[in-house]
Amino acid sequence: MIKSERDGAAAAAAARERAATSAASASGGENHVAGKMRDGRERIISGKAFDEDARVEASIRPKQLSDYIGQNRVKENLQIAVEAARSRGEALDHVLLYGPPGLGKTTLAQILANEMGSAIKVSSGPLLEKKGDLTAVLTSLEAQDFFFLDEIHRLQPSLEEILYPAMEDFRVDLIIGQGPGARVHPYQLNPFTLIGATTRAGLIMAPLRSRFGIVHRLEFYSPEDLLLIVQRSARILGITMDESGAAEIARRSRGTPRVANRLLRRVRDFAEVRANGHIDIGVARDALAMLGVDDHGLDEVDRNLLLTIIQKYSGGPVGLSTIAASLSEEEDAIEEIYEPYLMQLGLLDRTQRGRVATALAYKHFGLDEPRRQPGLFS
Ligand code: ADE
Repeated sequence: MIKSERDGAAAAAAARERAATSAASASGGENHVAGKMRDGRERIISGKAFDEDARVEASIRPKQLSDYIGQNRVKENLQIAVEAARSRGEALDHVLLYGPPGLGKTTLAQILANEMGSAIKVSSGPLLEKKGDLTAVLTSLEAQDFFFLDEIHRLQPSLEEILYPAMEDFRVDLIIGQGPGARVHPYQLNPFTLIGATTRAGLIMAPLRSRFGIVHRLEFYSPEDLLLIVQRSARILGITMDESGAAEIARRSRGTPRVANRLLRRVRDFAEVRANGHIDIGVARDALAMLGVDDHGLDEVDRNLLLTIIQKYSGGPVGLSTIAASLSEEEDAIEEIYEPYLMQLGLLDRTQRGRVATALAYKHFGLDEPRRQPGLFS
């Protein structure tokens, strides 16, 4: 290859790498569509990132593990792994983080890179379209750099295969040329850390999963931890509030810091326009009622989902595809975003025969539970 060609190829690879990483870092790499309601409005209690969240989150996101609230077991394990890797002067083992959206997978990845004193590149499964997109990122990583790959379950299988030797031996096989003359050139990568994130752990197949040395599931946050998060964000954003106002926001944030921080901003708007700017429990309650977020953090979509099962399908069991068709929602959105929190609250059960509204769901709506006929053989 002559120099100008090599320069041209290098420039093309750099441009490809920029395209594959930069867009994701601005948005958190997540798919915004699933956070929307049927009429196109965004759901205030969706864990998926809106464009607005990405901007604010960048300013309030904790930078160190010691500033990160909640997820104590995960935090302790990561702290030990970081200290051990640092003292050995090695890259941190590859990390897989899974759990519902908005719980802090991106934040943790950035904290880990920070704690290791390393740079981080961010991309997501759907953003990487061609093999060259992925190899361009991998070959650009310096020793001990981090590569955060969001929605890793949506990576194409042909690209997933590139990850195997990259993760295991820090090697990519570059194919130079085309047709019968094509040659495989093994290319040695710098030792790096892959942080994979997914909302759908069940879709990560064993060959990929087994290559992660550290695997953690993020849980919904307790109201106590969310209260601390709301208070911390309010301090950074210069919002004045009572503890009771903060606790009300925390309690209705469906265990999700991203939702808590979003509700905090909307309640602040309300307080500035309808009150004197100060958030107390009355202001928080009025603002949240106006936003359509009920006492348990449920919104119109959650209520529709439960009422559909109760009223149209006698409480279930009813299949996911039937519910999705009834609500004109995507199955993925129902499974990934709506259901996990409803199950956590004990309002919904997933059974082998389909979704079932629980006794608690009937109670939530003030409805009498029908007496279920015991099955002939159950
Ligand atoms: N902001 C969002 N998530 C957070 C967390 N876990 N700790 C502190 N601040 C946060």
